[in-house]
Amino acid sequence: MTTTLFDPLTVGAVTLPNRVLMAPLTRMRATPPGDVPNDLMRDYYVQRAGAGLIVSEGTQVSTEGKGYMDTPGIHSPEQVEGWRRITDAVHEAGGTIAAQLWHVGRVSHDSFHGGVMPLSASAIEYRNRTTIKGPDGGPQRVSCPTPRAATAADIARTLDDYRRATENAREAGFDLVEIHGAHGYLLHQFLSTQSNVRDDEYGGPVENRARLMLEAVDAVVGAWSADRVGIRISPIGSFNGLTDLEGGEDGLFVAGELGRRDLAFLHLSEPDWAGGPALDDAFRTRLREAFAGTIIGAGAYTPDKAQRLLDAGLIDAAAFGRAYIANPDLAERLEQGADLNEPDVSTFYGGGAEGYVDYPALAS
Ligand code: PHB
Repeated sequence: MTTTLFDPLTVGAVTLPNRVLMAPLTRMRATPPGDVPNDLMRDYYVQRAGAGLIVSEGTQVSTEGKGYMDTPGIHSPEQVEGWRRITDAVHEAGGTIAAQLWHVGRVSHDSFHGGVMPLSASAIEYRNRTTIKGPDGGPQRVSCPTPRAATAADIARTLDDYRRATENAREAGFDLVEIHGAHGYLLHQFLSTQSNVRDDEYGGPVENRARLMLEAVDAVVGAWSADRVGIRISPIGSFNGLTDLEGGEDGLFVAGELGRRDLAFLHLSEPDWAGGPALDDAFRTRLREAFAGTIIGAGAYTPDKAQRLLDAGLIDAAAFGRAYIANPDLAERLEQGADLNEPDVSTFYGGGAEGYVDYPALAS
């Protein structure tokens, strides 16, 4: 019997009813001030509770970790309360949900930090843009400034932020947490030679560049348990002004270190979702050898690609992003071979219910 996307899967401490997962998706609809998760977000997640696992949109571990307008956080009591209402409702609908713990590092803007420059591995000028709130309250694209290099105190505080965010995720009723180690955000900025030119124990050889990522993993595991913790990485990707074409070996090094920690899952975001090169099976095979636990594949996957990689034993589950924006019942549709709704890019970021909770499910 071959395994299909519609078979159950045990991931750390939880068992998922199927392997069609909802990828983390920035939607920028939290309530200001305070970046509080709200009832509109609850309705959106509940509609998608048929996914084997929902991975939440990135939720910042601290104000310092915020990089886009109206993204939710998980560092204040109001945010924990908002998330609690969401996880309760998702569970009631039969779903399972992970909190994606996010620190954007340099993919940010000083206006989010009272004029202080964003934190990164090194103070290197780079080209990228993010989204702040414009004069009319709507999204405005702006260039990211040159960040400041993290001091030892900044690093210690950041690890505390990951710890507290994990305790908060637990209290908020999440089933798992996923550490965002991908896409040119803080942990990836430390890992990549493109963004890290430090000469201390966090710079130089990969053992040093991976240190913050692994310390964050250990902090999060210490605040909960390895079987509740996964991580998302994007070796060889090009995104957010970080072109990491040489990052394959770094990714494999990290995967080996993660494998030794018995994490619940490794979530691989493949580079071609954002215009990067396609990964090959040789790389996927080496990743599988480095990390013996559950591997989730993602990145503009088609259902056919997901099933092929499942058949080849290279992934255990697949996460779908844009398809989940437009199809709240994606897992059910794929199982029935039903047609899919097309996503409307213009309503991905910010706004209200339109393009968020109004995509139709199949008629029951
Ligand atoms: C985005 O907002 O476009 C975004 C955020 C986080 C990611 C990738 C993309 O990991």
